[in-house]
Amino acid sequence: MTTRDTLIAAARQAAANAHAPYSSFAVGAALLMTDGSIVTGCNFENASYGLSLCAETVALATANAQGRLADVVEIGVIGGRTVDGRPTGSDPVGPCGRCRQVINEAAQIGGRDILIHCAGAEGDTVATYRLSELLPHAFGPADLGLA
Ligand code: THU
Repeated sequence: MTTRDTLIAAARQAAANAHAPYSSFAVGAALLMTDGSIVTGCNFENASYGLSLCAETVALATANAQGRLADVVEIGVIGGRTVDGRPTGSDPVGPCGRCRQVINEAAQIGGRDILIHCAGAEGDTVATYRLSELLPHAFGPADLGLA
């Protein structure tokens, strides 16, 4: 399997654990790390809707908690509406605006323009972007005089 397909498969597996009873939209994210390992996350909703956490942010916070925020190379993201608890649909899902900013933190710290593979819960359609395409002119550490 290609790296891309491995990440999509890992993200789909992660999405199976999404806690998304309010939106009925499950998202999974998988980070490829410099050592070849994969860190995953899924969305984690809350009855107080606005407190919900996105899959990408959960995965990146996990990498950070492992001391590996600087080691993210590529990301796979998948999502889809849940039907009978199972994510469905083949339209690619990309990271929301907030997640793009969170991904940018890892990109800046690691010095990489992270590759992001976006897919649906099912199917073979994958859209691949560099973070710089999804978040041009990003605000980052340099704006604070820190890079
Ligand atoms: N969601 C993510 O996990 N990542 C994104 O980039 C987009 C949105 C989640 C948040 C919420 O739990 C559900 O998808 C519907 O917005």
